[in-house]
Amino acid sequence: MPLISLLHGLVLGNRASRIVQFGTCAGYSVLLLGWMLRRMNATRGLFSLDLDPAMCEMTWRWIVRAGLEDFVEIAQRNFLDPQSPIAAKEYLGGDPELIIVDSFHEYQATLNELDLWFAALAAGGVWFSTTSAVSRQTST
Ligand SMILES: C[S@@+](CC[C@H](N)C(=O)[O-])C[C@H]1O[C@@H](n2cnc3c(N)ncnc32)[C@H](O)[C@@H]1O
Repeated sequence: MPLISLLHGLVLGNRASRIVQFGTCAGYSVLLLGWMLRRMNATRGLFSLDLDPAMCEMTWRWIVRAGLEDFVEIAQRNFLDPQSPIAAKEYLGGDPELIIVDSFHEYQATLNELDLWFAALAAGGVWFSTTSAVSRQTST
């Protein structure tokens, strides 16, 4: 619940309408983020990745049941695949404004995630990990 309260403030407070999440699992945070995006009328707003096909299937069933298909994509793929940031950008229609990391919480894995994805974050975007949060500064 504290995690979701924090995300609620981040998403609605900043009107973050291009979001990537690492780790879909059973879809709890996906559903809650999807409802926030629907409230903002932000279609194609969340690209959530998970390797586990059973979790992706189950989550998609919940998404359909909640009528959130226009707002959320469940991508069955490895977020460490170099093609994943490209797929995310294509779905969202631009660089992610918020990246939510809810995956390993291990040191080396976090470095790998940052190496691949930090440059994909929109300028001024927020990198939020369930263990830390940083903001990317504009380079100009
Ligand atoms: C802590 S759970 C996510 C919980 C989810 N955000 C929620 O609120 O219910 C972590 C998930 O990350 C997935 N995962 C771990 N490594 C991955 C990788 N390299 N690529 C894609 N998914 C991965 C696991 O399959 C697992 O379902």
